Amino acid sequence: MVELGYDFRSDFWHQGYATEAALAVRDFAFDVLGLPGLISLIRVGNLASKRVAEKVGMKLADDFTRYETRYWRYAIQRP
Ligand SMILES: CC(C)(COP(=O)(O)OP(=O)(O)OC[C@H]1O[C@@H](n2cnc3c(N)ncnc32)[C@H](O)[C@@H]1OP(=O)(O)O)[C@@H](O)C(=O)NCCC(=O)NCCS
Repeated sequence: MVELGYDFRSDFWHQGYATEAALAVRDFAFDVLGLPGLISLIRVGNLASKRVAEKVGMKLADDFTRYETRYWRYAIQRP
C-alpha cells in the first residue's frame, strides 16, 4: 500500500497548504496512477495530521505500535 505523507515548515502551518497538497496528491494517485488506495501513518495524538487525513477523505483503519511508538493507520480506497 502506498503512503501519503505531509510535512511543512511550521511558519506555513494553519493556512490549508497540507490539505490542498494532499488532495492534489490523492487525486493524482487515483486518477492518473490508478492506485487502489492510500494510507497515512500518524503518530497517535498528532491531531493536525489526523485532521488533514480526515479532510482528504481517509478513515481510521486501525492502530499499531512500531519501535515503541503508537500510530493510527488512516486509509482511503479509490472511489
Ligand atoms: C500536519 C501538518 C502537515 C499540517 O499542515 P497544515 O498546512 O497546517 O495543515 P492544514 O492547514 O491543511 O490543516 C490542518 C488542520 O488541522 C487542524 N489542527 C491544527 N492543529 C490542531 C490541533 N492541535 N488540534 C486539532 N486540530 C488541529 C486545523 O484546524 C486544520 O483543520 P480545519 O481546516 O478543519 O480547521 C503540519 O502540522 C506539519 O508539517 N507537522 C509536522 C510534520 C507532521 O507531523 N507530519 C505528519 C506526519 S504523519
